[in-house]
Amino acid sequence: MADLCGMRAKIGTDVHEAAVLLRAGEVVAIPTETVYGLAANAFDEAAVLKVFAAKRRPSFDPLIVHIGERARVNDVVSELPPGAKELMDAFWPGPLTLVLPKRPEVPDLVTSGLDTVGVRMPAHPMALELLRIIGFPLAAPSANPFGYVSPTTAQHVADLLGDRIPYILDGGACNVGVESTIIGWEADRWVLFRPGGVAVEEIERVVGGVGAALKKILPAAPGMLESHYAPRKPLHVGDIEPLMLRFPDQRIGVISFTSRFLAHRCEVLSPQGDFGEAARHLFAALRSLDTSDCEVILAEPFPEEGLGRAINDRLRRASAR
Ligand code: TXA
Ligand code: MG
Repeated sequence: MADLCGMRAKIGTDVHEAAVLLRAGEVVAIPTETVYGLAANAFDEAAVLKVFAAKRRPSFDPLIVHIGERARVNDVVSELPPGAKELMDAFWPGPLTLVLPKRPEVPDLVTSGLDTVGVRMPAHPMALELLRIIGFPLAAPSANPFGYVSPTTAQHVADLLGDRIPYILDGGACNVGVESTIIGWEADRWVLFRPGGVAVEEIERVVGGVGAALKKILPAAPGMLESHYAPRKPLHVGDIEPLMLRFPDQRIGVISFTSRFLAHRCEVLSPQGDFGEAARHLFAALRSLDTSDCEVILAEPFPEEGLGRAINDRLRRASAR
C-alpha cells in the first residue's frame, strides 16, 4: 500500500465525485442503512483487490454485491430459487442479502471462489442514487479494518480507514446499525448464514421455515468467524451485576438494553426497550466505550428474538478471543 502513504480521505456528500472515483477503479466508502461499506466496481478485479488491501481482509471472506435496481440482479445471479422473487419484493431495498448462484462474469475474488454470490439492494437514498449513476454493481464489505467494530457514521470510517481511501460519501448515521441478514438456498430450502437487520421471523412469514446453514464456508464460514466486530478492550457478555463484581478494581463500561447501571460509564441502547433503536446504537456504543478510559466492557445479552438475535450474534463474536 506504499502508493497510499499520506492519503487522507475527503468526507463529502457529492455522489458524482464518488462516481468518478469508482469509475476510475478507486475505492469509496458509502453509506447504507445498515453500516458503511467500502465499495468498488464488482466487475473490476483490480478495484476489488484494493478493498481487500484497505481492510486487510483475508481473501477467503467473500464480499456482498450491491445493486441499485431489482432488475440488475440478473447481471450477477444466474438463477433465482423458489421464493427469491417474493423475498426481494418483501425486503428490497433493505437489509437482506441473498446468497444465490453466480454468473461467471462475477470475479472469483468477490465470491472467494464460491459458485454463489451474496447480493442486496441497500435502502439508502445516496447509495441508490450512486448505483444508478454508475450503472455497475458495487462489491462492498463493511468499512472497518478486518475484525473490528463496523462503522455507522462517516467519521467512524475516517477514523478507521481515512489514511487508506480517497473519499467517504457521508450519508449520515446508519438507521439500522447492524449488518444485513444473510440467507441462502441450500438443499432445497432457505438457510440462515448471518442474523441481521431483517428479523428471521419476518423472513419466515414470506418463505416458511428458515434452516441453519449446512455448508461451512471454508476455511472459515465468512462473516461467521468466531472473533469479529471486536473492540480492543476486553468485552464480557452476561448478567451485568454479577459480572461487575468480577472487576472490582477496574473502570467498567456497561452496554445495557434498557436499564442504567452504576458503572464508570453506561451506554443504555434503548430506554424504551425498542430492538431497532438498540441495534442502531450498538456499534457506536461499543466504539465509544472502546475509545474511552474504561478498562473493561460488560454487555448484557438481549432476548433471543427479532433483532435481538443479530445483536446477540455481534456481542458474542465481539467478546470472543
Ligand atoms: O449490511 C451489510 O451486509 C454490510 C453493508 C455494507 O452492505 N456489508 C457487510 O459485509 O456486512 P461484510 O463483508 O462485513 O460481510 C459480508 C459477509 C461475508 O463475511 C459472508 O459471511 C457473507 O457476507 N457472504 C458474502 N458472499 C457470500 C457467499 N457467496 N456465501 C456465503 N456467505 C457470503
Ligand atoms: Mg463486516
